[in-house]
Amino acid sequence: MTRSSQPTFPGFDRSQNSDKRQVKNGEPLNDLVLSAYSDGNDRTFPRILRLYVAPGSTIADVTYGKGVFWRRVPPDQYELLATDIQDGVDCRDLPYKDRTIDCVVLDPPYMHTPGGTAHKAHAPFEEHYRNNSTGNRTKSKYHDAVLDLYRDAGREAYRVLRDRGVLIVKCQDEVCSNRQRFTHVEIMQMYDAIGFVAEDLFVVMRNNRPGVSRAIRQVHARKNHSYFLVFWKRGKTKGLWDSPK
Ligand SMILES: C[S@@+](CC[C@H](N)C(=O)[O-])C[C@H]1O[C@@H](n2cnc3c(N)ncnc32)[C@H](O)[C@@H]1O
Repeated sequence: MTRSSQPTFPGFDRSQNSDKRQVKNGEPLNDLVLSAYSDGNDRTFPRILRLYVAPGSTIADVTYGKGVFWRRVPPDQYELLATDIQDGVDCRDLPYKDRTIDCVVLDPPYMHTPGGTAHKAHAPFEEHYRNNSTGNRTKSKYHDAVLDLYRDAGREAYRVLRDRGVLIVKCQDEVCSNRQRFTHVEIMQMYDAIGFVAEDLFVVMRNNRPGVSRAIRQVHARKNHSYFLVFWKRGKTKGLWDSPK
């Protein structure tokens, strides 16, 4: 490995006068988990679990959908509780007792759909995101309805998570009515108010080109990335995050 490509991490001593570098604590890490990937949710998600959730943990994926996140996670590695509104379990009203879950995974619809009955003309989109079939129980519309679901589901995740439990949230920013909405920032602010600590952020880049819109003039950059956000429940605990043993 060349000097310029040498990774740095705590315990790594790069002496100015020596070409010899010493690892004082621990082994060199060649297989680091990175903050951005372009090889899909199914490959990124297991890396996040590896870094944040101890094997054997109980994980509630409350918007399981087609289970894409779990395609590359060995089935015996975690105790997976998979639910979705399609099976009648609303992520805002989970069937778990308080403080019983180690990790919650939340990936609700993160784009608004057109109002009224317009979504009927967007069947494939609606089929995937199910924005309109969830009956979001709010008077909000469009982006605010998206945020309401994140907020209510975040509160419910807080209830079921044990102290220092982990919440992994998938989201994507969107432009709504020509206004830039940085959903990932809005979620961080909402979850801070609930009592979560924002600990990490992962970017997933799309490989295929996003669809062409009919806009005459481009105003904002077309988004070809989404996020996994990692939070933990501070609860009564203090101090910093530490990786699971
Ligand atoms: C973007 S998809 C999730 C994809 C999923 N992570 C996967 O790997 O296939 C959004 C999912 O949220 C579900 N959903 C929407 N509203 C919900 C709610 N209130 N409670 C639980 N699930 C909900 C939808 O049925 C859909 O499966």
